[in-house]
Amino acid sequence: MNKQGSLTVVGTGIKIAGDMTLNTQAQIKQADIVFTVVPDKVSKQWLAKLNPNTVDMTEFYGSNKSRLITYNEMANALVESVKQGNNVCAAFYGHPGVFAYASHLAIRQLKALGYRAKMQPGISAEDWLVADLGIDPGKSGCISIEATQFLFYQRTIDPYSLLVLWQIGLVGDHTLALDKTDNYQRGLKVLSNELLKYYPSDHQVIIYEAATLALFPPRIEHIALAQLPQAKLTAISTLAIPPYQEAPLDLAVLKQLGLTPEDIDNALSIDK
Ligand SMILES: C[S@@+](CC[C@H](N)C(=O)[O-])C[C@H]1O[C@@H](n2cnc3c(N)ncnc32)[C@H](O)[C@@H]1O
Repeated sequence: MNKQGSLTVVGTGIKIAGDMTLNTQAQIKQADIVFTVVPDKVSKQWLAKLNPNTVDMTEFYGSNKSRLITYNEMANALVESVKQGNNVCAAFYGHPGVFAYASHLAIRQLKALGYRAKMQPGISAEDWLVADLGIDPGKSGCISIEATQFLFYQRTIDPYSLLVLWQIGLVGDHTLALDKTDNYQRGLKVLSNELLKYYPSDHQVIIYEAATLALFPPRIEHIALAQLPQAKLTAISTLAIPPYQEAPLDLAVLKQLGLTPEDIDNALSIDK
């Protein structure tokens, strides 16, 4: 049987106030207590208007403090409040389950303890990227990966797909303790060299920052891959690398299917 106390994790989206679904707003309003992780003052005020009993969990962040410690503290705060019998809502910016370790951890721990815990999706930075850049990830496929993870581990990428590199402003940071993006140049240089193994130096890449206020435009900066090491990045920069070219047909597979390249061309001519 479920114990008293529950957790609902919601996402506030990227555009302040406007990205919140009606369901998310309802969850925030009806909770006994709302724990928030949103980056700006206006969002905090908006959430406090929906429910005055809010706790700002960004206060767990600290200078030179590993974000892993911070995320564990956040999860712990959620779990403890639910254990006290509260119906807790945790509101994270963007999608609450995308690059949001604490939300998944709290849900896992609470479920293991027999409490009700669930997540509702929200609009992530990648959702806005698709809309603002007009790139359909379904057309070529998409690889979406954290920039430092891509560097540290032996990962292969597919230059025929859209590549989305998150947290590019912290690329190369192994400490998880940087709280400002002033130290990324070395990592960015190494990342650029890695990408040059897959793309020509004049391939256009896009530094993307979705607007958080409806009045302002997004940052959409096209630069040649060779210029990437000189790029000015922020904590909200995401790098989008469009496909280099269309993937070549796999003639051996087509043959097994009794098809020719012309069959594929004819079938897809509608897509041109
Ligand atoms: C810890 S992740 C949080 C992602 C968030 N949960 C989401 O759903 O978008 C932080 C990274 O998300 C991306 N990001 C956050 N806000 C963004 C924005 N306004 N525009 C573009 N990318 C953004 C950046 O890559 C940033 O380094």
